[in-house]
Amino acid sequence: MSKPAVRVAVTGAAGQIGYALLFRIASGEMLGKDQPVILQLLEIPDEKAQNALKGVIMELEDCAFPLLAGIEAHSDPMQAFKDTDYALLVGARPRGPGMERADLLAANAQIFTAQGKALNAVASRNVKVLVVGNPANTNAYIAMKSAPDLPAKNFTAMLRLDHNRAASQLAAKAGFKVGDIRKLTVWGNHSPTMYADYRFATVNGKSVQETINDQAWNKDVFLPTVGKRGAAIIAARGLSSAASAANAAIDHMRDWALGSKGEWVTMGVPSNGEYGVPKDIVFGFPVTTENGEYKIVEGLEIDAFSQECINKTLAELEGERDGVKDLLK
Ligand code: NAI
Repeated sequence: MSKPAVRVAVTGAAGQIGYALLFRIASGEMLGKDQPVILQLLEIPDEKAQNALKGVIMELEDCAFPLLAGIEAHSDPMQAFKDTDYALLVGARPRGPGMERADLLAANAQIFTAQGKALNAVASRNVKVLVVGNPANTNAYIAMKSAPDLPAKNFTAMLRLDHNRAASQLAAKAGFKVGDIRKLTVWGNHSPTMYADYRFATVNGKSVQETINDQAWNKDVFLPTVGKRGAAIIAARGLSSAASAANAAIDHMRDWALGSKGEWVTMGVPSNGEYGVPKDIVFGFPVTTENGEYKIVEGLEIDAFSQECINKTLAELEGERDGVKDLLK
């Protein structure tokens, strides 16, 4: 007997990440090849966006995915999030010309307050939320604060793209197979301040740091390359990363739902004070996942250089939190 279908809500469904994401969810790459899914897609009410969404739905239908048990199109989060088990919040307000950072935070605070409230009202009590739309960590924080009846731990932000980018840079540097890298993590904000940390990483049991043995490369090449990768892709492609972002969203949700089998993965999750990060700040941490729950890897040694990097990305997140404080009242 096949499993009952689960409900997966995706916002910004007609955008470029949506286009790279939905087909993979429907084919079973996120929740397993035995898990039927119902897609509950949200776009803004604008006619152009709703028409684009209709086109995406026609293509989903034309794939005849055996696991796709239903597709719904919505313009109201109260309908899109009804009973949803998974919510991927991809749609966000991009930074327009002349827009100040405060304006960007305010525009997104409006979106993520409304979506947090809707999740609070109508989603499954166990809903797993992944925020992709930027500024992802603070948008996740806003949604979490707007959903007081749901467990805070159910709100996460996507740091997995940074994690995957870091793994690929390490593999290229030292000739590792990317899939052999273990115990890598990215601390902090999904922004150029994030701190990709391979001090604990191993390949086939051997220390990555000892193999590379080049702190100047870490500081002057690796960290800036990973931190500015998004901008480098925009410069090259003329568009922001979409397929790799969608891939990271699949990785994040799959590992959360199905388990990381003891391996570390990076998730942006609300702090409970771990590593000196104030409670509720949504911060990139190393986690392991099992039975649908994540657990922050604790007790890692933080050296002076790492502490400096963590402080910098934390200061940015505290600034963002303070910037939306009045909007959350
Ligand atoms: P896009 O502009 O192609 O698509 C965004 C879609 O969201 C649009 O179709 C828009 O109509 C929709 N949208 C906007 N507000 C909405 C709302 N309130 N409700 C529902 N839908 C809404 O953008 P793209 O490339 O798909 O990127 C989406 C977001 O993901 C951006 O904020 C981007 O900065 C972010 N991103 C995050 C990454 C991460 O690692 N966390 C990596 C790459 C992108």
